Amino acid sequence: MRTYKQLPVAFVRGRGATLWDSQGKPYLDGLSGIAVTNLGHCHPRVTQAIEEQARELVHTSNLFRIPGQEQLGAELIAATAMDTAFFCNSGAEANEVAIKLARRYGHDRHVKTPTIVVLEGAFHGRTLGALAATAGEGMRKPFEPMVPGFIRIAPGDIEGLNSLTSQKDIVAVLVEPVQGEGGVRPLSREYLGALRSLCDQQNWLLMFDEVQTGNGRCGALYAYQRLGVIPDVLTTAKGLGNGYPIGACLAKGEASSALRAGDHGTTYGGSPLACAAASAVVNTLADPHLLARADVIRDHILKAFGDHLANPAHVVEIRGLGLMLGIEVSVPATGLVSAALEQGTIINVTAGNTIRLLPPLVMSNDEAHQLGHSVAEIINQAPEIAA
Ligand SMILES: Cc1ncc(COP(=O)(O)O)c(C=O)c1O
Repeated sequence: MRTYKQLPVAFVRGRGATLWDSQGKPYLDGLSGIAVTNLGHCHPRVTQAIEEQARELVHTSNLFRIPGQEQLGAELIAATAMDTAFFCNSGAEANEVAIKLARRYGHDRHVKTPTIVVLEGAFHGRTLGALAATAGEGMRKPFEPMVPGFIRIAPGDIEGLNSLTSQKDIVAVLVEPVQGEGGVRPLSREYLGALRSLCDQQNWLLMFDEVQTGNGRCGALYAYQRLGVIPDVLTTAKGLGNGYPIGACLAKGEASSALRAGDHGTTYGGSPLACAAASAVVNTLADPHLLARADVIRDHILKAFGDHLANPAHVVEIRGLGLMLGIEVSVPATGLVSAALEQGTIINVTAGNTIRLLPPLVMSNDEAHQLGHSVAEIINQAPEIAA
C-alpha cells in the first residue's frame, strides 16, 4: 500500500552514525531512523545480544514466563521511578496500553466516561486510540469517527489547565515532555510542575509519552529524569531496542496495578529476542558518560551551525533537549531533506518548517561538527533549492 512518500535512496549497511546506500555512497545520519538507533547502527553490544538470543530462543508467547522479559522489567524498574512494566512492539501500542490503563483506573473509581487530557501539537501514534490522542487534523479526519474520551488543551497554558477541575470524568493527562512530530517543542519545567501538582490534587494520572524522548535521546535514560517531574505512567519504544521493535508501558504506585490478568495482551510483546536487544540497550545506557554525550554533541552541532549560517534571520528558533534538536527556519523548507540527502546528510523536517535533528549518542565531535555545517549550508542554499 502506498502509505509512505519515500525518498529515492535505499540504505544497505550502517555503522555508528554512518549509512551506506546501495551504490556504496556514505551518508551522515542525523536522524537515527527517527530517534530509534540512539546507540548508532549495529551497536556491537546490541548486535551480539540479538545474535546470541536468536541462536537460543526467539519466541514463546506470554502464556509462559519469559526470563529475559522479567530481567528487562527489573532493569527498567531499577533505572527509573516506575514499579511495573508491560511490553509491546511499538510506540502506538505502548500508548494504547496507557489509554486502557487510565480508563481502567477511572472505572475502578466509578468514573462513568473516563476522559484523558491531551495537548495541541501532540503526536501519540496512528492506531485508533493513539490517533484520537494525536492533534493533527489531517491525520485524524480520514479516519473519523474518533475514539471518544479525550479533551485537548493548549500546551503551556497553566490557567486553562487549572480550569479543567470543573470538568468531570477526567482521569489522566497524557503529554510528550518534548513534542517531537509537533515541531520539537519542549514543555517548560514550570508547566510540567503545574501538571504534576494538578494531577496530585485531583487524583489524575500523569502519563508521559517518552516514545521519542526516551532511551538516552534527551541526555538521560528518560527525559523526565532531567526535567524533575515524575509521571505515574511512562510509555516508550523507538530507541528501546535500538532498531529491534519493542515498546513498553511502565507505571508506578496505584497505576502499576490498574491493569489486571486478562485486561491486556499481545502475542509478540516482550519476546526473548526483543528483550535481549532492549536489555543490551538499557545496560549500555547505564553509562553516564554516554548519556552526557547528548549535550556535548548538541553543542558541537550548534557551534558549527552558528559558524556557517550565512544569515541568522533565516532561523526563527532553535529548540529541544539533548539530542532532540529542532531548528525552525523562515526559509522554504520543502526540498531541504532531498537536497541534504544528495549532499550525503540525513535530516528531517517536521511541522512544516522545523528541521529536526536526532543524531545518535555515538556520533563523534567531528561528525557533529560536520552535521551542523551541512545543515547551515542547506539553509544558506534554501532559496535556490526552493526556486
Ligand atoms: C511521541 C511519540 N509517540 C508515539 C509514536 C508512535 O510510535 P510508533 O511509530 O512506534 O507506533 C511516536 C512516533 O513517532 C512518537 O514520536
